[in-house]
Amino acid sequence: MDKYPRTIFASAVALGAAVTILAFSEVGQGAGNDYPYQFGLLATVRISALYFLIAFVAGPLYQLTKADWLAKVISNRRYIGLSFAFVHSIHLGFIILWINANPGLAEAMTLIVGGIAYLLMYLQALTSNNYSFTLLGKYWRWLHNFSMYYLWFIMTVTFSGHNYVTARIFTGVFLVALLVRILALFKRRQNRARKLSEA
Ligand code: HEM
Repeated sequence: MDKYPRTIFASAVALGAAVTILAFSEVGQGAGNDYPYQFGLLATVRISALYFLIAFVAGPLYQLTKADWLAKVISNRRYIGLSFAFVHSIHLGFIILWINANPGLAEAMTLIVGGIAYLLMYLQALTSNNYSFTLLGKYWRWLHNFSMYYLWFIMTVTFSGHNYVTARIFTGVFLVALLVRILALFKRRQNRARKLSEA
């Protein structure tokens, strides 16, 4: 199966760089922003959310549809996940700038829950290689599944708490993505039960 790590990483680096440059320009710091670094914060999290969504639903969608193009996406899921981690790290950069500019504004709970999300994301990124996969065995799947649902939860809850139209659209798409995963889970169970009854 073809793999496109360079193309995928290049898209993440290009988007991340473009947003960072824009965030420090008049567009990013000027009218339309409620506070400094808002553009950088929102744009980076929205771009990273797109990579996340692709990695989150590609497998289940393939199980439901068996579409050939999705098989290609699945074989590149590792690089899509790493691209998510890269762009989401730029979100972290803007969080640090935002906290520096507004000391005391970030709530302790946000920092703890968000901090755990970053810890899990980096653990996922660090173990996204064949060596860790073999070394960790069943714990690898546990870590990656748990982290993915934790990140899904934080993303969905945060988007749903915002009044922007884009945030509402993202909330809907994240909920649909979960539905797709649940449907694929049912299908897997059905297939397993059918195979057992045929055996
Ligand atoms: C570590 C602590 C974190 C802090 C202090 C923080 C801070 C912020 C701030 C200030 C905004 C902009 C809000 C606005 O302008 O209305 C934002 C947006 C957002 N953040 Fe973070 N963030 C953190 C971690 C995370 C993590 C780990 C995730 C996801 C896994 C995340 C997902 C989001 C989302 C979904 C939005 C809303 C984007 C939108 O409405 O379009 N954040 N964050």
